[in-house]
Amino acid sequence: MLEADSVKITLLVDNQIDMLLPDDQNVDRYGLVEHFDTRVPPPIAENGLSILIEATAGRQVTRVIFDAGLTSNGLMHNLATLGIDAQTLDYLVLSHGHPDHYGGIYGLLERRDTRLSVVTGADAFLPRFASMPDGRVSGNYSAALRPDTVESSGGSLIMCEDAISLGGGIYSSGRIPLATEFEGPAATAPWGSNGLWQLNTEHRLVVDPVAEEQAVFVAVNGGLIVLTGCAHRGVVNTIRRGRELFGDRDVLAVFGGFHLGFPTTPAANVDATYREFVQVGVQRVIPMHCSGLRSHIAFSAATGGPSYIQPAVGSVFSFS
Ligand SMILES: [Fe+2]
Repeated sequence: MLEADSVKITLLVDNQIDMLLPDDQNVDRYGLVEHFDTRVPPPIAENGLSILIEATAGRQVTRVIFDAGLTSNGLMHNLATLGIDAQTLDYLVLSHGHPDHYGGIYGLLERRDTRLSVVTGADAFLPRFASMPDGRVSGNYSAALRPDTVESSGGSLIMCEDAISLGGGIYSSGRIPLATEFEGPAATAPWGSNGLWQLNTEHRLVVDPVAEEQAVFVAVNGGLIVLTGCAHRGVVNTIRRGRELFGDRDVLAVFGGFHLGFPTTPAANVDATYREFVQVGVQRVIPMHCSGLRSHIAFSAATGGPSYIQPAVGSVFSFS
């Protein structure tokens, strides 16, 4: 199994930005000095997710961008501000087919001189709708994500439902089984409830199972780093998938959207998730994007479990 010697993780797009966060052991912040430097526009936050993973194994450096934020403007602005060259990327992994995760894909592909391999599940391209309790219904909000458009914009699609190695100890998760009792999308719901819907492969309108959602794992020096997109399949289920693939390694950190801020996610899931983190021995937790205020409050106040680290666009985490 390929294993990284060291890993650098940069938060490219997230809902939060905070220039007052101090540097910490293994965390370099894009702080006040950088924000006040008039020569470089500061990074911006938006309601999406994108994370750069740079793994070094021997002399080889592998660079994977996990999700593409909500807009091309946001992603490309932050790449430029943070000094990251889009030409150096080896893969884009799209966790699932929701716009807050693929939105910047075309800006990124069009910026490159060469094709970029895009790893995702086939169901990412199914039509999707949102219905709200007040009667509002969206059109197909994922219409912009199409395989032919990805290809014609410079992407080379790798559709996969199994885990694959991306090099340097970085892996896509493959499909994530629903193992816990409390996580994952509801099997059914009344139309008009606060929910997400999908026109499935049998042309039936169903509660969106987001069955294609994949995470990214990094195997580094005997430990495991877990990165989730939106965790529609559950962040604990994602960790369990990691353990299934990599065995009982120390979970050094869990990054990403935990789906605990979604209006239909029960509040009790926050504590249930933390208990599982404690049980697994997760060392650090960085709740981003859709994790919600409740999980930031709970995880930052709790003791006996993982260290809570506040996310902010531009923060760089190092593991070796
Ligand atoms: Fe999301």
